[in-house]
Amino acid sequence: MKIARIALAGLGLVAVATVAGIAYAWEPAIDRVERPAPAAFDGRLVAEGAKLAAVGNCIACHTVPGGKSFAGGLAIPTPFGTIHSSNITPDEETGIGRWSEAAFVRSMRRGVDREGNHLYPAFPYDHYTLVSDTDNRALYAYLMTRTPVRATPPPNDLPFPLNIRMSVAGWKLLFFREGEFRPDPTKSERVNRGAYLAEGLAHCGACHTPRNILGAEKKAEHWAGGEAEGWNSYAINRDSHAPIPWNSDALAHYLRHGWHAEHGVARGPMAEVTGNLAGLPDADVDAMAAYAADVMGPPAPERLAAAEGLRRYVAGGGGPGGAAPAGDSLTAAVQPASTERGEAVYAAACATCHASGRPQPYGGLDFHLSTAVAAPDPGNIVTVVLHGLPPGDGDYSSVMPAFAGTLSDADAVALLAYMRRTFTDKPAWTDLEKLVADTRSGARHVVVRPADGIERSPTNVGARD
Ligand code: HEC
Ligand code: HEC
Ligand code: HEC
Repeated sequence: MKIARIALAGLGLVAVATVAGIAYAWEPAIDRVERPAPAAFDGRLVAEGAKLAAVGNCIACHTVPGGKSFAGGLAIPTPFGTIHSSNITPDEETGIGRWSEAAFVRSMRRGVDREGNHLYPAFPYDHYTLVSDTDNRALYAYLMTRTPVRATPPPNDLPFPLNIRMSVAGWKLLFFREGEFRPDPTKSERVNRGAYLAEGLAHCGACHTPRNILGAEKKAEHWAGGEAEGWNSYAINRDSHAPIPWNSDALAHYLRHGWHAEHGVARGPMAEVTGNLAGLPDADVDAMAAYAADVMGPPAPERLAAAEGLRRYVAGGGGPGGAAPAGDSLTAAVQPASTERGEAVYAAACATCHASGRPQPYGGLDFHLSTAVAAPDPGNIVTVVLHGLPPGDGDYSSVMPAFAGTLSDADAVALLAYMRRTFTDKPAWTDLEKLVADTRSGARHVVVRPADGIERSPTNVGARD
């Protein structure tokens, strides 16, 4: 079924590509240049480029874990097949050493390589198209002054017709709109600055917006929740499931430090995002936070009132057993056998850290505050319970043990059902058995990294585990 759908989608792409044909698809090669000497670039421009590259998280996709920075070759799984990132070091043969600035800008603005081939949108140029010429110049200066690395990425693994780069022209025709960024005159300068960064280089929507079957973001569901490396990227628009609504101060703290007292710690791919943002000037992080808060809009009065209740409750010690504001009446009313088991597992395995009142980010969050427990998709909490939060390398970071070895599938299912009932007033999760089993077996592929997005010093920005 899935394969049939993809095959059809592929055929559709080819058809559209053919129609789009010559008019749209053809891009000329841009001549090679002599590799510019690193000393030719102004030091301040290079420093500016370093910050912008951190916002764009270029290193995350262009570096194999443990490999040389920016040398490419990382396998990026997509629903259509595997795409490998390019070597973007200034190596003359295998990297972009002989690309002119114009060729670089075209790749960012239109997703076309120096030779005129269309690039796959796994490279998020649908966002980078918004980047200004000035910022692209700084990014170019930064990349061209990195250490050249001779490395050719492995070939992509894509089915026909998607293995033909021309098919991307059809995709672009349907879904791609070239920048630049246009500020919204009804919004403040700060919100517009935040929009420029968040919609462009920071490409929040690449993970937080759901995609259609051709892999394009559904514009009408902007930031309504997406997927990244097997992690659920929660809704960060007005559908946010955070028990205490986000505001711009909380967002600024979370983006800068990788955690917030009322929301917990950024995990998985988000930890990498916040780790990179840590080195950014405050004004830029604040601007992105202001924009994100604007996208979420002011919370409804009921949500604010519930949040006040939660704040008071958690300030009074939290944990189950107290006068919890949500869900506890349910627990008292229905006590199936599995609830007792879930409660026992919770008390033995989780409460010591998560009901200890120890402050964030090293203490566990009170689960009444947890988006992981309140969100409709339990994927992330299953991942965290089975795989834990491995420590960041050399940095202080929050650590949580993995429970795959101590909890059986039945224990984990009972625990999660209990938590959902106890800490939220949301409907029970379904299909937990399969989710837990698939996460344990690896059938559900999730990339687990240290939660290393916390308090990183600027010198660490760009460093990789
Ligand atoms: C989400 C993953 C991802 C991120 C983030 C990312 N890239 Fe890429 N990039 C790719 C992939 C995958 C390709 C290869 C696409 C292809 O082969 O069609 C690529 C290709 C490129 C190319 C074309 C190179 C060539 O030889 O054709 C350039 C230039 C580039 N990226 C620059 C950047 C810069 C600069 C940033 C940060 C601002 C960045 N990328 C961030 C995934 C990413
Ligand atoms: C590479 C993918 C990726 C990118 C890019 C990304 N996020 Fe995330 N984000 C995630 C994932 C995955 C989570 C869930 C992480 C978790 O469980 O801790 C998340 C969580 C969040 C949360 C917490 C939501 C909650 O209620 O707990 C906020 C807020 C957030 N992201 C904002 C942003 C903003 C703003 C940007 C752009 C500046 C951004 N993200 C870019 C993947 C991403
Ligand atoms: C040794 C202490 C420790 C134990 C035991 C522990 N955790 Fe954690 N856990 C943490 C820390 C520290 C964090 C990171 C801070 C945060 O976000 O809560 C965390 C984070 C989490 C998160 C992500 C934060 C959120 O709520 O959104 C979840 C979910 C979670 N733990 C679930 C559990 C469950 C379920 C158990 C019991 C099976 C458990 N933890 C046991 C320390 C612990």
